[in-house]
Amino acid sequence: MSDILRQPAEVIYQAELDALKADDHGAKPENWQLSPQSVVTYLMGGTTASGVVISPKYIGQRRIIETAVATLATDRALLLLGVPGTAKSWVSEHLAAAICGVSTQVIQCTAGTDEQQIRYGWNYAQLLAKGPSREALVPTPLYRAMENGSLCRLEELTRMGSDVQDTLITVLSEKMLPVPELNDAIYARRGFNIIATANNRDKGVNELSSALKRRFNVVVLPLPDDMDQEIDIISRRVSEMSRDLQIPHPKNAAEEIKKVVTMFRELRSGSTLDGKVALKVPSGNLSTAEAIAVMVGGLSQAAWFHQGNLNAQAIGANLLGAIVKDPVQDKLVLEEYLETVLKKRADFSDYYHSINELL
Ligand SMILES: Nc1ncnc2c1ncn2[C@@H]1O[C@H](COP(=O)(O)OP(=O)(O)O)[C@@H](O)[C@H]1O
Ligand SMILES: [Mg+2]
Repeated sequence: MSDILRQPAEVIYQAELDALKADDHGAKPENWQLSPQSVVTYLMGGTTASGVVISPKYIGQRRIIETAVATLATDRALLLLGVPGTAKSWVSEHLAAAICGVSTQVIQCTAGTDEQQIRYGWNYAQLLAKGPSREALVPTPLYRAMENGSLCRLEELTRMGSDVQDTLITVLSEKMLPVPELNDAIYARRGFNIIATANNRDKGVNELSSALKRRFNVVVLPLPDDMDQEIDIISRRVSEMSRDLQIPHPKNAAEEIKKVVTMFRELRSGSTLDGKVALKVPSGNLSTAEAIAVMVGGLSQAAWFHQGNLNAQAIGANLLGAIVKDPVQDKLVLEEYLETVLKKRADFSDYYHSINELL
């Protein structure tokens, strides 16, 4: 096993990508590694013509992924929108890996992102020695993606200032990036496009200008609609992660995942699964990604401190951290949930006691 903590998708799933490529006889947009059909198979899972099994990466509606892939084959860019933890970054990484073989051309947008991080910067030593020249120019991931006809990922697009966001308008509408210092421009090669992600829950985001919005096709990634689907997503990721972290995966993991998902879904929706008791909703968004984090935290605690017993003691503190984001309000919400719901359920009594001890 390599000692790199996390390899990019195109390295982890290289065998699957190679198998898809070998059997891919469909038409491809120029500079794509795979046909749009094979890209969808890579994301949704399936079997190749020669019988290689492709694991599902995204669990949800196939149509969503088809729309995303079809968008990237047009001149419009893709914006994946949704609450945190709905696999926006995950889908963006896998789309880039499947379509152009590199998922690492990423710009993380923040309030401090400036135009130089989007367009290009300068190597000042070169600039002083040689004056403005192509050699003195420091390309950004966006610049490189345009130059080699591949995908650039922009994470959390709406976190950077509107003026900086608007730098993308020329890039997206004219497919070129002016370099006024050199009286030149770079023209995007075929295959270039942008996959941006943004979440609609954050405070302090900068709305996209309508000029920019018009250049994106928006695809909304929803929270999983049924419980079995959510359990499936969590079980897959938890077993992959426990393998990566080299911690054992106890037999009762599935049972505990089901309990954690039950608590998450009830608190998230503000009512018990049977619809009989109305509940207050905590301020955090209790996403699937957070349920994965709770379970992985629980597995680690079980492995290192509870002789491998994955139980309410090992999971409880992780659960509390995920639910109580606001120490005053959310604590009251959780207390009420414990007293009105969990206390009455025999199979949740260990959770009732261990969370109560920590509150
Ligand atoms: N529908 C889904 N299918 C597969 N994995 C999912 C799904 N929803 C959430 N996940 C998992 O949630 C984790 C976090 O997702 P991430 O892409 O970081 O969320 P976001 O960028 O939307 O905030 C990933 O590990 C991913 O595997
Ligand atoms: Mg993300």
